[in-house]
Amino acid sequence: MEFEAVIKQRRSLRSFAPVEVSDAVIRELGAAASRAPSCSNKQPWRFAFVRSPDALERMVEVLAPGNVLWAKQASMIVAVWSFADLDCRTPDGRDYYQFDTGMATALLLLAATERDLITHPVAGFDPHAARNVLGLPEQAQVITLIMVGGRAKEIFPGLKDWQIKAESEPSSRIQFEGFATIV
Ligand SMILES: Cc1cc2nc3c(=O)[nH]c(=O)nc-3n(C[C@H](O)[C@H](O)[C@H](O)COP(=O)(O)O)c2cc1C
Repeated sequence: MEFEAVIKQRRSLRSFAPVEVSDAVIRELGAAASRAPSCSNKQPWRFAFVRSPDALERMVEVLAPGNVLWAKQASMIVAVWSFADLDCRTPDGRDYYQFDTGMATALLLLAATERDLITHPVAGFDPHAARNVLGLPEQAQVITLIMVGGRAKEIFPGLKDWQIKAESEPSSRIQFEGFATIV
């Protein structure tokens, strides 16, 4: 798929069809993410690819109530985590781990999109509970959970009206002048 088409196709949809995500595909997603730039090439991103039914069930329990219904249809959940010491802190105190992890995550989302997978990142979850379920180190910050699945032909019946609208209409974007200047 053309790069522009992949960018346009990526949507945080909520109507998942079950799909088997192979080890090979997981490794391809990781490889795409790992091509991201990072401060001093620190590569602070960490991913837990949660695929087994037991582990998926435990991850669904850490989601905010508003995310549970649709998210529990996902075939895989990718927990994205990092912590400040994995990346640069500038002498004036700027931390780069979240920025660099976000760049890697964007590449992962696009690589998944190119493979006809739906990806939906969420902030609506309990990060401490997620860390415990995954057995991550104390300092780990779980930044987002990404629901992954195939694209269902029908809209998932449990969705609210605004979510149904989001499934069928393009997501709105601020115009260029609203977020950029040319100097
Ligand atoms: C950091 C982050 C947190 C998000 N949290 C949630 C969430 O808790 N629940 C949800 O339904 N969508 C969540 N989303 C999805 C956004 O609502 C979605 O990306 C946005 O509306 C733009 O739509 P699009 O991704 O389809 O272009 C989140 C997205 C990001 C990047």
